[in-house]
Amino acid sequence: MVAHNLLPAIPRPTTDLTLRVHAKDTVADGVVSLTLVHPDGTRLPDWTPGAHIDLLLPDGTTRQYSLCGDRWDPYSYRVAVLREPAGRGGSAYVHDRLGIGDAVGVGGTHNHFPLVPADRYLFVAGGIGITPLLPMIHQVELIGIDWQLLYGGRTRASMAFREQLKDTYGGRVHLCPQDEYGLLDLETWLSRPEPGTKVYCCGPAPLLAAVQDACAAWPPYSLRTERFTAATPEPARQTPFEVELRRTGRTVTVTPDVSVLHAVRRAGADVLSSCEQGTCGTCLVPVLAGTPDHRDAVLAEHERAAGDCLLPCVSRSHSDRLVLDL
Ligand code: FES
Repeated sequence: MVAHNLLPAIPRPTTDLTLRVHAKDTVADGVVSLTLVHPDGTRLPDWTPGAHIDLLLPDGTTRQYSLCGDRWDPYSYRVAVLREPAGRGGSAYVHDRLGIGDAVGVGGTHNHFPLVPADRYLFVAGGIGITPLLPMIHQVELIGIDWQLLYGGRTRASMAFREQLKDTYGGRVHLCPQDEYGLLDLETWLSRPEPGTKVYCCGPAPLLAAVQDACAAWPPYSLRTERFTAATPEPARQTPFEVELRRTGRTVTVTPDVSVLHAVRRAGADVLSSCEQGTCGTCLVPVLAGTPDHRDAVLAEHERAAGDCLLPCVSRSHSDRLVLDL
């Protein structure tokens, strides 16, 4: 309790909109979709495939969900929520308590998983990881670019939108429930690099790691991923380091038991956060000097390599000193 009192108040994520639940549908075992509309029926901000919103639930929790509806429908947002028994309660609230007509705060949209131009696309989805890929598939189909989807899940019944995908796109969609086919056959799909093809993958951490390994010989930046949770390798250093807040004119020492985010807040910097798990991108800050130890699930490889920003809720430092534009 005392320790909590030492921390500055954590800024709440901004709520740009209050929307109402217009429809709630079961789309697979353990997955419901929510259709959200403005209470006045007015149009909603535009978004692009790969984007997500922050959902601020009536119980005070905030969660990020990929938009999986039709981006050309300006009057509604659609998200799909997997019930996560081991989660922090957000999905249980959506499944058990959120009803049609309820109000929810919505922040965003944000897009850390944008669709970049390519000659061809291979989409690889694991379970609920299908959600950000749905609008991408719709988009590439509209502009007539070649694509394939490799979609795995525990069982056929657990795979959201499988029938819609199969009915709409037929042979481009390869459904591979694990209880029928085993793990996705990445060897067959990815062992031969295909210049010009971008691989977009979203799903659980083991799938992302396997796809990353399988794409090791592909041209740089061929693979784009989005994670549900940040990979949490051991920090590069177990010793304290200094963080200079250049604009604030203060320097703080970050010990191993404190996040950079909380350390800079204690020093007076007002940094917004939401997930505090390295998955939403809200807390992104520019880095002016030093070498970040990236531990988030948001930045792409080339953004990590550039070293000019970091997500302080989970990321740390390789160097003795980091200088932030705060
Ligand atoms: Fe979500 Fe830092 S608060 S990435």
